[in-house]
Amino acid sequence: MNIFITGATGFVGGELLVKLSKHPDIKKIFCLVRAKNEADAYARLDHVFNFHHDYFDRNKVFPVIGNLFDNNLSSSLIDNPALKDISIIIHSAANTSFSKIYDDMVEKTNIGGLIKILTWAKQLQSLQTFLYIGTATIFGKDVSDRTIFEEESPNLKANHLVKYTYTKMHGELLLHQYLPEDKILVARPSIIMGDSKNKNPRSPVILWALATLDLMRLVPISPDSKIDIIPVDYAAESIITLLFSKRNHLVYHISTGTNSYTTPYKLTKAIEKHFANRPEYCFIDKSMLNQMKLWAKSNLKPESELYGYQKYLQYWEDIFVDVGNLRIILAGLGPYIDFIELSHVFDNTKLLQDTTVINSVPADQYIVNSISYLDKIDVFEGAKDP
Ligand SMILES: NC(=O)c1ccc[n+]([C@@H]2O[C@H](COP(=O)([O-])OP(=O)(O)OC[C@H]3O[C@@H](n4cnc5c(N)ncnc54)[C@H](OP(=O)(O)O)[C@@H]3O)[C@@H](O)[C@H]2O)c1
Repeated sequence: MNIFITGATGFVGGELLVKLSKHPDIKKIFCLVRAKNEADAYARLDHVFNFHHDYFDRNKVFPVIGNLFDNNLSSSLIDNPALKDISIIIHSAANTSFSKIYDDMVEKTNIGGLIKILTWAKQLQSLQTFLYIGTATIFGKDVSDRTIFEEESPNLKANHLVKYTYTKMHGELLLHQYLPEDKILVARPSIIMGDSKNKNPRSPVILWALATLDLMRLVPISPDSKIDIIPVDYAAESIITLLFSKRNHLVYHISTGTNSYTTPYKLTKAIEKHFANRPEYCFIDKSMLNQMKLWAKSNLKPESELYGYQKYLQYWEDIFVDVGNLRIILAGLGPYIDFIELSHVFDNTKLLQDTTVINSVPADQYIVNSISYLDKIDVFEGAKDP
């Protein structure tokens, strides 16, 4: 069979591509790649395989140059003779930014881009499965501290913390406007962070938040909030196993379920001792985030509670040099704190029942493999596009 994948140069898509390229039942894999020319497109795929220390089989993996923003993307895919017998489309490309300044871009990519791929998929005679890589965090912000089941989303009435989750939710609804149910498969990963194996993770996105909390040490988060975090290798392996399993449902959480979620306390304990020159972790109420922002602007009233944490304020003055830098970091961290405080765990019973997948290792156990990488993350750079 032949497969078409979008987002193969990304964190999740790259992992999917490399694993799929070893699958014996797959003859050819075509990857939508943003590139200037063919040489550049091959170089980008080369980079993905090099990163994984894996062999790039140029007789099996082929780039298809294209951008989800191209107005003629659907027609160029329709007209491409090499894509006539694609039986599986995996749509992993997305703009995952939480930053408001990218809202338009997020919508254009995640909704506009998806529509272009679906327009092509709809007329593809050979299509058996359209696998949409969604996200579990589409339930919205109005309910907290409980387990969420697949059938509870999408819900058009949900209020979203960021545009990104809204667009991913909307994307799931769009699938049904273009394709019959028997061709739709939705895999909804929870939060993907790092890699469970002893190797540097490809994307610093979620790790950035952890590296930032680790640097700050005084953190406005409930220590016992539940966080549903899985490693990227587990996410990709589970998605591929799901794709080739006999399924009873359209939508599956790729998540920790109730057995292997973690908490801020456990996660920070796991890394605390590796950065022993920093003060011990101290968890404070989320409402203190505002006081931190005011302090960073030198606008905090003298009677404020935050002054009770002098040790940390002194430490921040030492490490941030210009404390105004803390404002940039806090702005980037805001949505992550909001998500953590929701304390959502995504039920994974359907995945465990319908496939051979077993529960993931909790993040507080596998994160130690990423310690050296955490220390190298530029928290200021990451804060610009969280
Ligand atoms: N990471 C997580 O924690 C997480 C959790 C749940 C679900 N997901 C879902 O998993 C999927 C992959 O996420 P990720 O973390 O791998 O994101 P990522 O590392 O940012 O990768 C995004 C991919 O999409 C491609 N892309 C973006 N805009 C494009 C455009 N205009 N045209 C063509 N390609 C474009 C990127 O190509 P370039 O290399 O050219 O930029 C890249 O290959 C997404 O659908 C996301 O919603 C991720």
